[in-house]
Amino acid sequence: MTSCAYLGLNETKDYEALVKDSKITSAGQSIFKKNCVSCHGEMLDGLVGPDLTDERWKYGDGTVPAIMITVTEGVEKNGMPSWKEKLTREDIETVAVFVRSRRGSNEGRPESSAH
Ligand code: HEC
Repeated sequence: MTSCAYLGLNETKDYEALVKDSKITSAGQSIFKKNCVSCHGEMLDGLVGPDLTDERWKYGDGTVPAIMITVTEGVEKNGMPSWKEKLTREDIETVAVFVRSRRGSNEGRPESSAH
């Protein structure tokens, strides 16, 4: 599993269980609406930023810890902001759980042109 000392990622934490917890995913959705929709779209299917509902991941494998690392560090040169100064570690985890919960949700939907 991916590890990152800064985030204090816990190798034994069951992130997949959090993905099934609607309290956490709806809190994550609020954080996403406030901070991420402008670039990734209301449906997470991509605007300036890429589609987050497919199974293609440029950074990592689409697991909660991998998403947390991308969101924390950002990819500033490509237009993805770093959120470590703007969101708390808990908020980053919560929003990552929400994004993970939508992973693969575009199955059956036609390919979006924005990647
Ligand atoms: C200003 C526009 C912008 C905002 C706001 C933004 N993103 Fe992004 N995001 C991007 C861009 C552009 C990329 C693609 C970076 C690249 O390809 O190197 C990206 C990439 C990502 C990736 C990596 C996808 C992959 O395939 O590995 C994740 C995950 C992500 N963003 C999540 C978020 C979350 C969560 C938020 C809100 C906290 C957010 N983004 C806010 C523009 C944005």
